[in-house]
Amino acid sequence: MKILVMYSSLTGNTKKVAEAITAALPEESTLVQVADKLPIQNYDIVFLGFWIDRSSADNAMAQFMQQMHDENVALFATLGAYPNTAYAKKCMENAVALLPKDNTVLGKFHCQGKLAEKLVEKFKTLPPEHPHALTPERLMRYQKAASHPDEVDLKAVAQFAIKVREEFINKHH
Ligand SMILES: Cc1cc2nc3c(=O)[nH]c(=O)nc-3n(C[C@H](O)[C@H](O)[C@H](O)COP(=O)(O)O)c2cc1C
Repeated sequence: MKILVMYSSLTGNTKKVAEAITAALPEESTLVQVADKLPIQNYDIVFLGFWIDRSSADNAMAQFMQQMHDENVALFATLGAYPNTAYAKKCMENAVALLPKDNTVLGKFHCQGKLAEKLVEKFKTLPPEHPHALTPERLMRYQKAASHPDEVDLKAVAQFAIKVREEFINKHH
């Protein structure tokens, strides 16, 4: 069993989650950053991790996903929005839609990830009519996101990874 954990991460949130997946599958997994032309055909399962940018996978991972074929894939993501929302679900659906249909999606996981401080500072300067203007509701969301990914998220993603692996084995043996 060979498992690749490939991720794209701007500020480290998704990297943390990727590391938790690798730690949960210590014998079989290899951790790499997303890179063009990496040979992924030698792996039974490819975990793909990305941060949500404009409601879908970030550009580096989106480009990679669009040229993947015939792989068994499990997706994981971090995002600023609350995880248990229709919006978060929609972001993951947008990411799944990037994969050509000959790939098999084994599972999906997402959790909140703190917003880059610079971004929040920028939002503070925006006029009230701007879609990202810092309302009290948004400020609270950013403050809630600031502790994520936390220990609970990392435990949950470890369980997710183990489950994906077990289900794959049950199906193929
Ligand atoms: C340029 C930019 C765009 C973002 N767009 C979204 C978005 O559309 N929806 C969302 O929920 N979070 C958005 N976020 C928040 C990130 O997805 C979140 O902070 C994520 O955990 C960052 O992951 P990283 O640390 O691995 O880079 C955005 C962040 C940045 C910097």
